[in-house]
Amino acid sequence: MKLTGRNILLGVTGSIAAYKVTFLVRLLVKEGANVKVIVSTSAKEFVSPVVLSTLSKNKVLESFYKEEGFVWNNHVDLGLWADLFVIAPATANTLAKMNTGICDSLLTATILSARCPVWVAPAMDLDMYAHQSTQNNLTQLIDKGVKVLEPESGQLASGLEGQGRLQEPEVIFNQIKNFFTANSPLSGKKILVSAGPTYERIDPVRFIGNHSSGKMGYAIAEQAAMLGAEVTLVSGPVSITTNVAGINKVMVQTADEMFEACTSVHKSMDVIIMAAAVADFKPKHFSDKKIKKKETMTIELEKNKDILKFMGANRNNYQTLIGFALENDNEEFYAKGKLEKKNLDYIVLNSLNDKGAGFGHNTNKVTIYSKVGTRMPLPLMSKQEVAREIVSLLV
Ligand code: CTP
Repeated sequence: MKLTGRNILLGVTGSIAAYKVTFLVRLLVKEGANVKVIVSTSAKEFVSPVVLSTLSKNKVLESFYKEEGFVWNNHVDLGLWADLFVIAPATANTLAKMNTGICDSLLTATILSARCPVWVAPAMDLDMYAHQSTQNNLTQLIDKGVKVLEPESGQLASGLEGQGRLQEPEVIFNQIKNFFTANSPLSGKKILVSAGPTYERIDPVRFIGNHSSGKMGYAIAEQAAMLGAEVTLVSGPVSITTNVAGINKVMVQTADEMFEACTSVHKSMDVIIMAAAVADFKPKHFSDKKIKKKETMTIELEKNKDILKFMGANRNNYQTLIGFALENDNEEFYAKGKLEKKNLDYIVLNSLNDKGAGFGHNTNKVTIYSKVGTRMPLPLMSKQEVAREIVSLLV
């Protein structure tokens, strides 16, 4: 499914063609997209919000406040959530508001907040469409970066014939798919990402592990796949999952298994990003019987193979290698040491001293060091945003 993980916001305004948008929602959802619909008040006269919410699997939004209680529908969050915002059908009234920056509804306020590309698919009677005001608004919207999906000519609801028909849902859908395919700068690239902890078995019921949630590695895998990369995600035991297309997930338990999974594919990779918190040690002896209680107990540990170091020592010239370092003292010194020792291009430093950074959190605060000596400190941000920054190094 080409649109898995893509966030598409649909704005529906009050044109008779609004009913056609139900088909578009269905096509997008079938292709894996996350779809949220915002309607204008008059759109509800032409298409049922119940149909739109059932098909989109999300509540249809209309006003700044949710109906139950006075909870705010945050237009800023919606604008940031979207990868693409399509207003279809777009009436002459909405186009005029968009062009002048009027934001007297959730829909128009979200249009001003959106950072993603905004498209409009006008639909109206031929004279309204041909009117100089509408044409001026469209020309000026194009100047502001809005893409116009020009209406088709044909029979209109008024009975007149001319230009003003909403593009067919299949046509809009294909343009959306093409947009995401064209926006795939990592298409054709193979990327290996490791994520999560490893569990080193002591006996059939016990292990040595760590608190890594896998969120950082999964977010990187998803961002890379959404930009078109073919991702192999080697994951230790985690409770999260992903449904983004283009990710081949290989589940492992131990550092030895992770080593095998990674080294069996590393030669063919263009990029290797090791975000896993690999256990440095494993029990020297595995007891196949459950160990019984004793007064004291000693478990002898031996060193695990360093997967990243192995790949740094056996790398191809065209490969990009990125490692992570989690430190709580002398952070920069240790991170730079790992960058050099493991023969990496970049190292992403998490400091355990930063609030909201590291294991378990949904946020992270990192500094990225490169082998050519650059230092890129990033503010506290969501792991998705950190992943975007890391993946943008590759783009
Ligand atoms: N790593 C790895 N294999 C290991 C240990 C670590 O691939 N056996 C990778 C991690 O995924 C991370 C980087 O190496 O990208 C740094 O890991 P870290 O454990 O911080 O570094 P170490 O070199 O093991 O140093 P120390 O534990 O002493 O801080």
